[in-house]
Amino acid sequence: MDDLHSATGSARHAGNSASDPAARSVVPATAATIAEVSSAGQRIKANIERVIEGKQSPVTVGIAVLLAEGHLLIEDVPGVGKTKFAKALARSIDCSVRRVQFTPDLLPSDITGVSVYNSEERDFEFKPGPVFANIVVGDEINRASPKTQAALLECMEERQVTVDGVTYGLESPFMVLATQNPVDMEGTYPLPEAQRDRFTARISMGYPDRTAEIAMLSEHAALDPLDSLPAVSDATEVRTLIAAVRGVYVSESIKAYAVDLAEATRRAAEVRLGASPRATLQLLRAAKAWAALAGREYVIPDDLQLLIAPVFAHRLLLTAEAHVAGRSAGDVLRRVVQQVPIPAPAARATL
Ligand SMILES: Nc1ncnc2c1ncn2[C@@H]1O[C@H](COP(=O)(O)OP(=O)(O)OP(=O)(O)O)[C@@H](O)[C@H]1O
Ligand SMILES: [Mg+2]
Repeated sequence: MDDLHSATGSARHAGNSASDPAARSVVPATAATIAEVSSAGQRIKANIERVIEGKQSPVTVGIAVLLAEGHLLIEDVPGVGKTKFAKALARSIDCSVRRVQFTPDLLPSDITGVSVYNSEERDFEFKPGPVFANIVVGDEINRASPKTQAALLECMEERQVTVDGVTYGLESPFMVLATQNPVDMEGTYPLPEAQRDRFTARISMGYPDRTAEIAMLSEHAALDPLDSLPAVSDATEVRTLIAAVRGVYVSESIKAYAVDLAEATRRAAEVRLGASPRATLQLLRAAKAWAALAGREYVIPDDLQLLIAPVFAHRLLLTAEAHVAGRSAGDVLRRVVQQVPIPAPAARATL
């Protein structure tokens, strides 16, 4: 255990190298302790649950993605609280939040910003778009044209915006929470696979259970609790939490396990396109955040197993035969988890 402590400690101030575009706009943050990550996570989760009834698991995945410096896709049928959840997460953190309602006529510059001519200064002036915020809630992303989707997804990946040859770094934390509706696809532009791959995780809200739906009727009927939802954290704290998550220890056998899981998806008979190396990387990052939220300073195989569905499922393309047979990406991933050997606990803890 002592080894694990020192591994975490040495990584405390890591992660802000100049070559890392994500770090450019980051105020060097001192890392929180793992106990602080876990208690802040509980605090944010409890706050969101004041607004969203009975949705523990998607809420925790959302917080893990925030701390893993990723982006979240919320995909589900209408009226199950997608927008509500995105807004509740954004409001729980006192930071800059912008919301974009995607429509077919939205232009890339409506996302990134534009240079406009200032006649007094006789020069061009950059007007930043909504992507210059800590949390960007993009509602119904599949309603925007592919060009506009591509503009957003580029910013997500590069954490910077280039307009008229000038590059502007985005803030940290920077998280895009995009919602989309898988039914009623007419007039929409489904995200291409390459762009889905940019989302760390996809969650679906699902219908609330009976008790949760009754609770929703009592609590939400008159007043919307979102209106009075307080912020329980801020951008500075989130940066220290992110720094702590970067320092979570991952043993060689856990890395090998993550690669084995990804490879198994590539080899699976029902799969046409398996998990990319980017997916493997994001699985590990999310697992580090998950471990820290659980108060652990190292990743265990359970973390990867719990996160494989939200992190991998939206990236897999199944064969036509698998579709006809009614198989889903979730089925494939369940089998992958059953078949790939789990690293031995002793091997897990060696440095
Ligand atoms: N689990 C839940 N807990 C609390 N409220 C919920 C839940 N599910 C749905 N609601 C309520 O249902 C309403 C619709 O939610 P919301 O607008 O977030 O849905 P949506 O999934 O974004 O729908 P759409 O796809 O049409 O945009 C809100 O008033 C929200 O409070
Ligand atoms: Mg909505």
